[in-house]
This record gives sequence, structure tokens and C-alpha cells, in this order.
Amino acid sequence: MAEFATVEKSVAAIRQRHDGQIPKTAIVLGSGLGSFAEQINAATTIPYEEISGFPASTVAGHAGRLLIGEIEGSPIYCMQGRMHLYEGYSAQQLALPIRTMKMLGVERLILTNAAGGLRAEHPAGSLMVITDHINFSGHNPMTGPNDERFGDRFFDMSNAYDESLRADMLSAAEQEGIDVFSGVYLQVLGPSFETPAEVRMFARLGADAVGMSTVPECLTAVHCGLKVVGLSLISNMAAGVSAAPVSYEEVFDEAKKAETRITRLLIAFLKMVSNADHT
Ligand code: HPA
Repeated sequence: MAEFATVEKSVAAIRQRHDGQIPKTAIVLGSGLGSFAEQINAATTIPYEEISGFPASTVAGHAGRLLIGEIEGSPIYCMQGRMHLYEGYSAQQLALPIRTMKMLGVERLILTNAAGGLRAEHPAGSLMVITDHINFSGHNPMTGPNDERFGDRFFDMSNAYDESLRADMLSAAEQEGIDVFSGVYLQVLGPSFETPAEVRMFARLGADAVGMSTVPECLTAVHCGLKVVGLSLISNMAAGVSAAPVSYEEVFDEAKKAETRITRLLIAFLKMVSNADHT
């Protein structure tokens, strides 16, 4: 759960290990995107299990630690690895790390993930800047009693993936000569990959990529007033879009291949937003 007192405890656990400044930008790294983390000059590294209340990640490829430091001169608060609904965590449990960063002073959040592509014109290896999401998971972390100290009971999602941060991500990509497209992310609960019939339905509903994360974090972030930008690596074509079956190995291997490119894009984006922080 992510009640105020629980969040305060997690904040205290982090503060005990890190008394320096808290970066304004945080990132959650998705499957196989760990190389970004390797380039961070971390002043502080804390395994999730040492942060009061943080659930440990159970998926291979998700390291499960918090890094606070800088990457090529830009301050960054990095969650290397995330929790998922399909691991059995409640949506409310997934809210805790996001509320914790907000209480520590983070202002904007980059959400990354690996996702299945729904459009043949954007094959595996493509990068998608998330314009919006469809919550098909059946869960919302903001159900239950609302604590006004975090945000309002009913909250607007019309600019959930912040327009100006999206524009920054697009210009960072252009500057680095990295191809990206803009599209809608749909979250399923998982852990099964979708059936081809579901995939056809999702494409008709207006989704461009399908995955098993990101939406609970985005909802929590928007509720508590963090600005969000999202980036999906199309790690595979969703079931039925290509003839090949979907496997986690493929997802992971494709993510590994794209790591350097994604890291370059993220570093350029961070330079852009952290320079703006200082002007
Ligand atoms: N479906 C759902 N989640 C995913 C996929 C997929 O095809 N690829 C990576 N995460």
C-alpha cells in the first residue's frame, strides 16, 4: 500500500542513505534497459529490499535498485527495475515508489518499457514516444480512500504524457539522428502475451503498442502532480502481427540490441531538460 505514513517511511529510508540533493528527473528502466544504469555515476545505490515498504522485483532482467547520481553531467534518480501487476503486486503497492520520489522532490518522470508492436510499419527495434495510454489492465492504483495530500479524488488525464516533455523527447531524438514515432500504449495485465484476436482488437481500438507496465506508474504520477514522459521499445511484433511466436527471450534480446541507442536518446533528453532547470 502507499498510504502517507508508508511513503514517509520509504522517504526516511532513502534519506538515511542519501542526504544530498534529489534530482528533479527520475526514470524507471524497463526490461533489459539496464545499460543506462551502468553509465550513471551513482552517489548512492540502494537495493529495493533495503527501502522500507518497497516490494522486491521478481523478474529476471529487472535489477531492483535505486540509483541517485548523474549521467554525463545531468542529475538523475533512477529506478533500475520495476514491479508489475502480473507478479501479484497490487496497483496500490506499485504506487509507493512513485509517491516516494514525489515526496523526495522529484518533478518529472521518464517511464520506459519494452512493448509488442501493433503496426507492421513500426517493426521490432522501433522506438515509440508515448502520446497517451489505454488502461486495459483492469486496475487503477488510485482506487480506495483518496488522500488529498497526494492529489484529488478525480483527476484529469488529458495531458498525462506531458506535451512539452514529449516535444523535448522528439527534439532530442532529432538532434541525435534517432528514429522515433509517436503512439498509444495499451496495458494488459499479463503475464500471458496476447492472443492474435486480442491484438487485432487493440489495433482497432487505436493502440500502437501493447505491454504489461507503465500505466499504474503514470496514473500515480499524474495524480500527485509529476510530469510524465514515456518511451517504448518495440521489442517484438505482437502475436499475429508477424508469424513468429512471442517470447520473453526475444523481448530481452531486442532490448539489449537497442540499449545503446536508447541510452543516447535519454542522455540527450536529460541534458535538454536539466539545462532548462538551470536557466
Ligand atoms: N505483449 C505484451 N507485453 C510485451 C510484449 C508483447 O508482445 N512485448 C514486450 N512486452
